[in-house]
Amino acid sequence: MLPKNFTFGLMQNNEAEILNEWAIKEGWNPGLSDQQVAMHYDPGAFIALRHHDEFIGGGSIISYDGLYGFMGLFIMRSDFRGQGLGAQLWQYRRDRLLSRLQANAAIGMDGVFNMAPFYARGGFVLAHRDLRYAGIAKGNKATEVTPLNDIDHTILIAYDNKHFPAPRTEFIKSWIKQTGVFGYAVLKNAEIVGYGVARPCHQGYKVGPLFADTMDIADKILSSLLSEINGELVQIDIPELNTAALKLAIKFGFEESFGCARMYLGAMQPEPLNTIYSVTSYEFG
Ligand SMILES: CC(C)(COP(=O)(O)OP(=O)(O)OC[C@H]1O[C@@H](n2cnc3c(N)ncnc32)[C@H](O)[C@@H]1OP(=O)(O)O)[C@@H](O)C(=O)NCCC(=O)NCCS
Repeated sequence: MLPKNFTFGLMQNNEAEILNEWAIKEGWNPGLSDQQVAMHYDPGAFIALRHHDEFIGGGSIISYDGLYGFMGLFIMRSDFRGQGLGAQLWQYRRDRLLSRLQANAAIGMDGVFNMAPFYARGGFVLAHRDLRYAGIAKGNKATEVTPLNDIDHTILIAYDNKHFPAPRTEFIKSWIKQTGVFGYAVLKNAEIVGYGVARPCHQGYKVGPLFADTMDIADKILSSLLSEINGELVQIDIPELNTAALKLAIKFGFEESFGCARMYLGAMQPEPLNTIYSVTSYEFG
């Protein structure tokens, strides 16, 4: 039970902007359009905790067609921390997301390491670490890549489906059309064998997703993306178990700069981690 004068509700646009400012202060470097894409895809995904009418905490609980959920952007205003309110907000978000999902659907999250024991007490199990590598973009455009704008959506979505726990057609369609985004795919026999996206963030760019059948294909896509943003700060969020992806990041001169614990509530199908060279985002899966 929340104390008197505290309430939960759906986040308003101005509150989402405040949450974004807090995420910047935390050093999470959100994508410039990430929230917009997520809110448009799932208008019920952003939850606010208010004291009277004032926004004091929030987080996202995106549902992918009720088949998979993801919790992110969990932040309390600093002067309201340490009073048990964050725990209530988190439990409310978890339960509300569960109620929006089909029975047996799993929920994922990328949590900061020091909070992992708290999330474990809430039922989440550690799967692996997603490590952020960062560096200065330097690449060459490969002849084998095709801009995502020239790719038929059907085959792009089919390839994305192989790498994400639920279909997310409209999400990906918006993600690849964000302002200032670059996206490339490699095709083989009219099928996609890899694709990647670089999107502008508060600072520089993030690459995500980057999915590819082989390290060589990932290399060509990443190098082509980096060629578009030469000299910019770039971050890439790699499932640690994909050792080829770690090697690739090092090859491009990136260094580990941050990391999260990927945790799940509920049963997950095994993920093709060896073809995931960067997750889409820490916030939305
Ligand atoms: C994480 C956060 C939302 C918690 O809010 P809060 O109101 O301080 O949370 P509570 O007082 O309800 O504490 C919630 C739990 O988090 C734990 N916790 C809070 N801060 C912690 C920290 N820095 N390290 C480890 N555990 C921490 C508490 O021990 C508590 O666990 P318990 O209930 O099992 O004892 C808040 O500290 C915050 O906004 N931090 C910055 C953003 C962030 O790191 N978000 C988490 C991203 S995964």
